[in-house]
Amino acid sequence: MAALVLLLPLLPLLAASALPSSEAAAKVPALYVFGDSTADVGNNNYLPGSNAKANFPHNGIDFPFSRPTGRFSNGYNGIDFLANHMGFKRSPPPFLSLANNTSHRILRGLKGISFASGGSGILDATGSTISMTKQIQYFSTVRSDLTGQLAIEQIDHLLSKSIFLISTGGNDIFAFFSQNRFPNITETQHFISTLITKYQDHFKELYALGARKFGIVDVAPIGCCPYPRSLNPTGGCLEMLNELARKFNEASKALLHDLSSTLTGMKYSVGSSYAIVMNIVNNPGTLGFEEIKTACCGSGKFNGESGCTPNATCCSNRRHYLFWDLLHPTHATSKLVGHAIFSGSKQYASPINFRQLVEDDYY
Ligand SMILES: *[C@@H]1O[C@H](CO)[C@@H](O)[C@H](O)[C@H]1NC(C)=O
Ligand SMILES: *[C@@H]1O[C@H](CO)[C@@H](O)[C@H](O)[C@H]1NC(C)=O
Ligand SMILES: *[C@@H]1O[C@H](CO)[C@@H](O)[C@H](O)[C@H]1NC(C)=O
Ligand SMILES: *[C@@H]1O[C@H](CO)[C@@H](O)[C@H](O)[C@H]1NC(C)=O
Repeated sequence: MAALVLLLPLLPLLAASALPSSEAAAKVPALYVFGDSTADVGNNNYLPGSNAKANFPHNGIDFPFSRPTGRFSNGYNGIDFLANHMGFKRSPPPFLSLANNTSHRILRGLKGISFASGGSGILDATGSTISMTKQIQYFSTVRSDLTGQLAIEQIDHLLSKSIFLISTGGNDIFAFFSQNRFPNITETQHFISTLITKYQDHFKELYALGARKFGIVDVAPIGCCPYPRSLNPTGGCLEMLNELARKFNEASKALLHDLSSTLTGMKYSVGSSYAIVMNIVNNPGTLGFEEIKTACCGSGKFNGESGCTPNATCCSNRRHYLFWDLLHPTHATSKLVGHAIFSGSKQYASPINFRQLVEDDYY
């Protein structure tokens, strides 16, 4: 159990090869990113003593110049691909890389910043990195910086046309599971409703700060990651974790539907990393994958017993692996997820896909 808690920081999810190198004209003014390690692009590099980091090899082995940036991936993560589809080169930079330079922060604030932090969750108690509450406070400081530069109406306009991308929830589920391996139905329902209530607060907070267009990435079938598999004597997916993910995802959709009918001007799309990853698990060959159980980088059973460190083993045919490390997808998986969420059918993104969210009402 201790191991589980320790590993909370790293969270799973979402597709491999390079992004188009040129930066096309962005289709939205700015992109602000919130969430956990499925979205983190290096905020945790600046947290002294945190063990939820990935700024060392073999991470980044397929990133330009093989640079370990803090992404939990061999290359890009799902948010990089989504950002690229929106016309950016990749994910916006980590907030903490800008934090000491106000003028830089203002410049970046106009184009987008990532507040995501590996290990964090929806609940403040989840993880010991940058909580969602804190991420939103950081966004609020960026917004305040901008008030020195632009009129309020201009800021409102900028934010209302920008995308607020959120990828979180998996770490809360891992934390709950690590404390209660056999929850009864009452406990499960209580957990899900606590989570949803807090998630609602975060959306309302962002809305109050000017956010209107929300792109949400749901929780993947985290029970199928190499780490949970390594705990299962049968080596199968830990169904309990997948079930919690499904319950949370369903409840989130209902929440967003409700919110969008009460918060004027709110628009959203929920991308289903759950559906896409499950699709890979069930049809690996058709989708170009050969290994869906064992992580490319790690050690122990399924390479799922410890993280991707410099002395861990690392596979060479990375394009054929679903999982990069014990809890995170490869660049190849993230690419597929990004594409399906941006352009896919309702099965992969609903009620509209991210492309429709981006194009909606822009001009
Ligand atoms: C900002 O300053 C803090 C404290 O002086 C330091 O720890 C941190 O590394 C600095 N951040 C950057 C991006 O230089
Ligand atoms: C702060 O950021 C601005 C704009 O990016 C840059 O021109 C300047 O050199 C930076 N200052 C420091 C001290 O890094
Ligand atoms: C669920 O477990 C709690 C103790 O954690 C207990 O109080 C409650 O009665 C149980 N509910 C059901 C439906 O079994
Ligand atoms: C890798 O090296 C670190 C120290 O550098 C050590 O703590 C860890 O156990 C090693 N892991 C493996 C899988 O050998």
